[in-house]
Amino acid sequence: MSSVVAPSLLASDWGRFRDECKAAEDAGADWLHMDVMDGHFVPPITFGPDVIAVAKKAVNIPIDVHLMIESPERQLQAFADAGADSISVHTEACPNLHRTLQEIKRLGCKAGAAINPGTPVTAVEAVLDLCDIVLVMTVNPGWGGQTFIDSTLGKVTEISKEIARRSAGALIEVDGGINAETGKRARDAGASIFVAGTYVFGSTDYAAAIKSLK
Ligand code: DX5
Ligand code: ZN
Repeated sequence: MSSVVAPSLLASDWGRFRDECKAAEDAGADWLHMDVMDGHFVPPITFGPDVIAVAKKAVNIPIDVHLMIESPERQLQAFADAGADSISVHTEACPNLHRTLQEIKRLGCKAGAAINPGTPVTAVEAVLDLCDIVLVMTVNPGWGGQTFIDSTLGKVTEISKEIARRSAGALIEVDGGINAETGKRARDAGASIFVAGTYVFGSTDYAAAIKSLK
């Protein structure tokens, strides 16, 4: 299976945001991963649709939006209008997950359901057939630069088996503490989309870091 590498701009130099987006694209990124945080679902606040629109204009690759926010259903239109190509919402923040995923698709975006390290796979099983992406958090969301949580790999394996059993189309995305070593383990478990913040933007050679995740 071909893999998708999605550098997370969270770890980039925000003073040079547009250049960092372009640099990641030039270095071989397949998608750009944008982490939206609201100060409620997770403690930090990052950015909203206006910044997504800047990234969208800067590059020609898809913009992958990860909403770490409460009540994400209220914001879907704004992020789709800003140019999101995929939008992932957290199961922990969505009481009406089917409706929310259907709305993301209606807006023309790929729909993703995200689960925290402490959330069991049963949280996505009910909506698996609606998902283009299942985003398995491999750290607790909120910050870049954290250590990969090994126990999340078992969930990647489990979801991968369930997708195969149903012949469903969802791809598994992993996010948090991804580097060449943890990325390989996640790939072996069934992941095919690799988000990496610190590993790419903290390196002196973005292209080499991205290549090592392919
Ligand atoms: C964490 C974010 C991640 C973060 C990953 O809440 O969802 O996308 O940027 O950062 P690294 O790759 O540094 O763990
Ligand atoms: Zn993320």
